[in-house]
Amino acid sequence: MATFLVTGGCGFIGSHLCERLEQQDHHVRVLDDLSTGRRDNISDDVELIVGDVADPDCVARAMDNVDGCFHLAAIASVRRSVEDWLGTHETNLTGAITVFNEAARPNRSGVPVVYASSAAVYGDNQEMPLRENSATQPITAYGADKLGCELHARVASRVHRIPTCGLRFFNVFGPRQDPSSPYSGVISIFIDRLLNRRPLTIFGHGGQQRDFVFVGDVVDHLLAGMGSMTAEPRIFNVCGGVGTTILELAGILGETVGIAPALHFAPAQTGDIQLSIGDPARAAILNLGTRTTLREGLRLTVDFVRPAVAA
Ligand code: NAD
Ligand code: UD1
Repeated sequence: MATFLVTGGCGFIGSHLCERLEQQDHHVRVLDDLSTGRRDNISDDVELIVGDVADPDCVARAMDNVDGCFHLAAIASVRRSVEDWLGTHETNLTGAITVFNEAARPNRSGVPVVYASSAAVYGDNQEMPLRENSATQPITAYGADKLGCELHARVASRVHRIPTCGLRFFNVFGPRQDPSSPYSGVISIFIDRLLNRRPLTIFGHGGQQRDFVFVGDVVDHLLAGMGSMTAEPRIFNVCGGVGTTILELAGILGETVGIAPALHFAPAQTGDIQLSIGDPARAAILNLGTRTTLREGLRLTVDFVRPAVAA
């Protein structure tokens, strides 16, 4: 049994990770400011510190006596980074450096850190599929800050001897993804709207493609990353390798829910990436199990959401 710190553990991906760590009998501590995460996403057995990941005192307290840290706290919305450049930067990059800096304190003997990067680091690179050695050319503050996390992780590993593993998540979906804000992930918004018989908004022409990955598979990657740390800083894509347009997604979701979607077209969003399809080949060395297909994952997600909407 080990003790793990999960920053952002009350959020969508973090809460699934906490659940899995607890199933493996680990002690779990979460640092979260509850800005988008919720206390009731995690069990009462999880130790929760409510605080800011960019506050060195909070992070110092949270990292006491841990065997490893999963750093997931961030403002996950690309659109919010367009509207609040400096505010999102404070959490998304200063927060990560605060975590690495604390992990490197001499009294801690090098806490290993697995952290959430993003497909957004590839930006407008059009060479599909995107591989870990493809050019990074972020087009938003969010993507630039995630690339900054990777650069500082390299410093943490090379200079301060902290084992780090960065995971470039593509578009993650699944149960507990919050649909309540316009900044939420597209699948959570579309399911919520379909079940409430409201039209789906398509930004732009809807031909933009995403590589959707189910949250359970993301947790597999996080655990495998922690379990196979090396002295060299490593980075892996977390993706399925399949592109789906937003219009196709609307159609598949309509079939899954059993309601034909009404579509409303709105102007394309500033900073919206057109093509984002990853190559999952390198992550195979993490020895992961079978992946959940988009249709299976959507069915599991709709089955989770439907009873709450019906109530
Ligand atoms: P989420 O918003 O559900 O979770 C983020 C959590 O971080 C929330 O619980 C929030 O309250 C917390 N948080 C935010 N700012 C904080 C701060 N200053 N201090 C402490 N806690 C703070 O988002 P998510 O989808 O679970 O994303 C988790 C991580 O994965 C993020 O780093 C995100 O950038 C990354 N990511 C997500 C996706 C995706 O498709 N969801 C894709 C790529 C990368
Ligand atoms: C998502 C993640 C981001 C991650 C990135 C990696 C969220 C909120 N964002 O960003 O953290 O780093 O993937 O690839 O999870 N769209 C519509 N209608 C809507 C909502 C969205 O057409 O109502 C479109 C968007 O314009 C975009 C696509 O759907 O083209 C996906 O949008 P979104 O789910 O917000 O994700 P990303 O911006 O790709």
